[in-house]
Amino acid sequence: EELSFSEAILRASGSISRFPLIPVRGVPLMCSIANNWDSVWSFCPDPADLLIATYPKAGTTWTQEIVDLLLHNGDAEACKRAPTPVRSPFLEIFSPPPIPSGLDYLKNMDPPRIIKTHLPFQLVPTGFWENKCKVIYVSRNAKDNLVSYFHFDCMNKAQPEPGPWEGYISKFMHGELSWGSWYDHVKGYWAEREKRNILYLFYEDMKENPRREVERIMRYLDLSVSDEVISRIVELTSFKNMKENPMTNYSCVPPPVFDQSISPFMRKGEVGDWRNHFTPEQSKMFDEDYEKQMKGVNIPFRDLI
Ligand code: A3P
Repeated sequence: EELSFSEAILRASGSISRFPLIPVRGVPLMCSIANNWDSVWSFCPDPADLLIATYPKAGTTWTQEIVDLLLHNGDAEACKRAPTPVRSPFLEIFSPPPIPSGLDYLKNMDPPRIIKTHLPFQLVPTGFWENKCKVIYVSRNAKDNLVSYFHFDCMNKAQPEPGPWEGYISKFMHGELSWGSWYDHVKGYWAEREKRNILYLFYEDMKENPRREVERIMRYLDLSVSDEVISRIVELTSFKNMKENPMTNYSCVPPPVFDQSISPFMRKGEVGDWRNHFTPEQSKMFDEDYEKQMKGVNIPFRDLI
């Protein structure tokens, strides 16, 4: 019996809970991932596969949609064939049965596959590098990324309880959230971007000039689509349109797991919302620590101060 993605999640929702994280090589991961780590680590992609790597909440879903539309020449209907996580599987995710794992979905797809991961660079299966797969990394300024993750952890019942805001900032700074340290994550891919031919993007750039960034992705993928199609893709992947599109707004994950009445998956989609969350004291403390953690690395993050 072929269950839909939503139906499978609904059936498993009783066994989805806010389990504690388990470290894998020092990186705290959801225990379902840690418990299946060997099968994730031994995954070998096809050279034609594409990896979209992000720290959670940096703009993954947006980029997945842009890439799927580029591969389908801007065909909106084709990109409504299934919800995002079915069209573009989440490499390391394992959930209770009958929910298929990311690897299950990948097994049943033909390359080129658009694979999503939140793994830090050092935990990406080495086959991606051996096969010289294309890799798009999307990063987002630390404070906005943190704010977005906080709201997400409030509504996602598969993640640990976020606790109060103040303590959440501290967990972020200490790398204690799911998928580990934001600082190590953005630095890890940055250090390897030239050697591995990684396209390193910024959420703030995508907001500032989506057309420019869509074209950048198109060139990186060696695709060529018309100006008209680019315009269509920019429009289809606007925050408003993706929020209304049931295939991209994560309404496919039913409320027992993603309770979007607490916070919608497509929450605000803005740059600088951290100013509505950080007190001046919190911001100062964060900035001081940021300087230490990012010392000697010049990743051009914007809208952080
Ligand atoms: P906010 O919580 O700040 O609104 P991810 O896909 O990596 O989980 O990231 C989710 C974040 O990206 C959320 O941020 C979400 O609103 C934002 N987002 C998703 N699609 C977007 C789009 N088309 N334009 C701008 N932001 C988008």
